Amino acid sequence: MRFDRSLKIAPSILSANFAELGAECRAIEDQGCDWVHLDVMDGHFVPNITFGPPVVKALRPHVRTVMDVHLMIAPVDPYISAFADAGADVITVHAEAGPHLDRTLQAVRAAGCRTGVALNPATPASAIVHVLDRIDLVCVMTVNPGFGGQSFISAMLPKIAELRSMIGDRPIHIEVDGGITPETAPDAFAAGADVLVAGSAVFKGGTAAQPTVYGENIAALRTSVEAGRRAAE
Ligand code: DX5
Ligand code: ZN
Repeated sequence: MRFDRSLKIAPSILSANFAELGAECRAIEDQGCDWVHLDVMDGHFVPNITFGPPVVKALRPHVRTVMDVHLMIAPVDPYISAFADAGADVITVHAEAGPHLDRTLQAVRAAGCRTGVALNPATPASAIVHVLDRIDLVCVMTVNPGFGGQSFISAMLPKIAELRSMIGDRPIHIEVDGGITPETAPDAFAAGADVLVAGSAVFKGGTAAQPTVYGENIAALRTSVEAGRRAAE
């Protein structure tokens, strides 16, 4: 996994057809996504349940790019090795999910994975200031986690910008997760995000058997960001 700040589109398979997840992962990669985002929910930290390590492991052979695993679970420490063994490249934990974030991040690195920290909308950017050297990615939640298809909370844009300046030259990705569409993507990128997670905006209208729709949806996100960048010049 090489580091750069170029735009990366990471479809969330939360919006995919769960009966065909392997084919869905192959379809979005064939259609030009950069990373694949897997949302793990426990019905405790968030009010929804998705899947755990066995499904992540089963999907590993179907993902050639970066497997970006977003853990919305508490406690998280007892499950880190299972997700690492399942083949996660990035393991993102929530700053709010436990009392010992520094220890959790050390455990993720010890398990051989890149570390991510997700911040709920009410959590300030300063939550990561003392663990910057332990993280490879910060994920700014632009919805309250638990469900796809919610509206982007634009009050998070100053938080993205604050993190961007806090990070400076450190090789830390800024990911945004929730409500990303061609309307909201340009602002998130302009504020400093480089990884855009998008569930409904990528999967809407397509199927693994009709994958070109995914390609069009991914291209629409890229085009919107590019247009926003040109307009700002
Ligand atoms: C929210 C998840 C997101 C979500 C994004 O709890 O972490 O990854 O699936 O979905 P959209 O893009 O539809 O808001
Ligand atoms: Zn997510």
